Amino acid sequence: MGARDATVFQEVEHAESMLSLDNVFDAPELRQWAERVAKGLGSDVETLNFAVEPKIDGLALSITYVDGALHQAATRGDGRVGEDVTENVRTIRNVPVTLPGVARGRLEVRGEVFLALDDFHELNDRQRAQGAKEFANPRNAAAGSLRQKDPRVSAQRPLSFLAYQLVDVSGSLSFTTYLDTIRQLAEWGFLTAEETRLEVGVEAMIERSDWYEEHRHDLRYDIDGIVVKVDDLAQREQLGFTSRAPRWAIARKLPPEERTTRLLAIEVSIGRTGRATPYAVLEPVVVAGSTVSMATLHNQDQVAAKDVRPGDLVIVRKAGDVIPEVVGAVAEPGKRRAKRWTFPSNCPDCGQPLERASDQSDTYCVNPACPAQLLHQIVHFASRGALDIEGLGEQRVAQLLGAGLVSDVADLFTLRAEVLAALEGLGELSATSLVREIDKAKSTSLSRVLVGLGIRHVGPVAARALATHFRNYAALAHAPLEELEDLAGVGPVIAQSVYQYCREEESRERVGRFVAAGLSLVERESGRALEATLQGKAVVVTGALEGYSRDEAEAAIVARGGTSPGSVSKKTYCVVVGEAPGASKLEKAQALGVPRVGANEFETLLGTGTWTSTLA
Ligand code: IVH
Repeated sequence: MGARDATVFQEVEHAESMLSLDNVFDAPELRQWAERVAKGLGSDVETLNFAVEPKIDGLALSITYVDGALHQAATRGDGRVGEDVTENVRTIRNVPVTLPGVARGRLEVRGEVFLALDDFHELNDRQRAQGAKEFANPRNAAAGSLRQKDPRVSAQRPLSFLAYQLVDVSGSLSFTTYLDTIRQLAEWGFLTAEETRLEVGVEAMIERSDWYEEHRHDLRYDIDGIVVKVDDLAQREQLGFTSRAPRWAIARKLPPEERTTRLLAIEVSIGRTGRATPYAVLEPVVVAGSTVSMATLHNQDQVAAKDVRPGDLVIVRKAGDVIPEVVGAVAEPGKRRAKRWTFPSNCPDCGQPLERASDQSDTYCVNPACPAQLLHQIVHFASRGALDIEGLGEQRVAQLLGAGLVSDVADLFTLRAEVLAALEGLGELSATSLVREIDKAKSTSLSRVLVGLGIRHVGPVAARALATHFRNYAALAHAPLEELEDLAGVGPVIAQSVYQYCREEESRERVGRFVAAGLSLVERESGRALEATLQGKAVVVTGALEGYSRDEAEAAIVARGGTSPGSVSKKTYCVVVGEAPGASKLEKAQALGVPRVGANEFETLLGTGTWTSTLA
């Protein structure tokens, strides 16, 4: 696409570079910026005048007027050289072709090309009616429309242009404040941001920027932040520029991008512990650069609190641009809503009744034979933190279950290569290698088996404590409850869970089969100090990590020489992202370029001090 387009549009060198803006991410950072500005000016931050305006999520454009007539329009490009889109820009409403009362001189008007939300929806309706591809979001639609080869097509697109900068190239005008220039632009016929306010002092300025955060969805266009600018043009001159941005302006970026889409259905998935997690099935929508068609709703109470119902228009965002979640429903006056969604009383996979303890927010399928649980249990058993069996991912396990070859983790040890080789997509070589991997895993250690069994509340820390103390499974299985409770790293809840597990008929049978298959139930990895893989490194954990309480996760990091502070800074080594992570930590990490690592990498991180991949 790039090559073809490059031949269509001429290059244009900007008379003055089109700079970018520096970013801040919250009110305290905005305050720091204002204080820096005041210091640079030798003035008082409480009396400075700030213009506070929306940061439109569109494309920057520079329009040159010579002797009052539109001469040329160019995209930002790399800031120095852009593309000539004059003919297309001529078709944009609210771009005047002549500037009334301007007879001489060269001016540049800069601003943002965008599609107002109403216009975007109308355009997509039209695209759909014509069987053409719909646009993912207003920004893409604006970009595509501006860069049309044929201006007649551009003219059909309801593009808008909002002006926010006047560059007086020939120096024929004289203004003393920014708002004066904006008023002049409006008089000439340009669209300017009606939400722009002049605020005196840092407090009022911050308050106004908070207003945008609260009202971002009430605006006619998508915004991705707020721009604060010093209003006094002489002060701007004094402050000047860095190489990439003016010192007199700053963008306060807003937290995760939110989009609206239709909630098609609410479904429930069953995890390995039987936990029933409701999730939203959505009409696909692009959020922060990728298509989202499902989003977690966490638990029954969350669905009730958000009161989202199938058929609703809902707001979706990605916490820290990573994990999709449904924020809530958008009111649609006059529209009949579906009945309030109720949590199913039976497991969607096995049909058995679901249970929820009165003091807990989670609901469980307690049928040990539930196929969905089984799938995730086996995947977990084979995962890196447990038996680490290569080649046993979710798809392969589902295939084994479907073929009736396994119905319990212990069945893995009975698999034969000849039988596996007959499965689709496996073949003799992969079948033999899978059986070899399973065989290799038999010489594992007790702590890994304990992790793999997925005993409720038992994570790697508790598993290690149990394995180190008891040395073999038989000793653990016969230990009195008090002995379990007294162990460091094992509280009464874990102790009770382990005690109960060991006494269940099904577990006893499973362990019997492990022994028969030759699986090691003896601790090998204990007795030595843990390697200081995270020496001096700060690892921030956000959200829940399966198998670890917050304290356990911290203890595990500290045990490897690291620290686990509660907030992200430039010095943070990485952020481990669990379930329902804190948006602000993720945002901060993203802003500072701190790597964000998935929860599934936590074990690797502890073991090696690094990870295999970061989150996109
Ligand atoms: S002022 C030298 N004001 O944000 C200052 N920019 O991240 C020039 N933008 O390239 C920019 N709304 O495309 C300014 N009210 C606003 C804006 C705005 C959106 C865009 C613009 C710029 C980018 C910088």
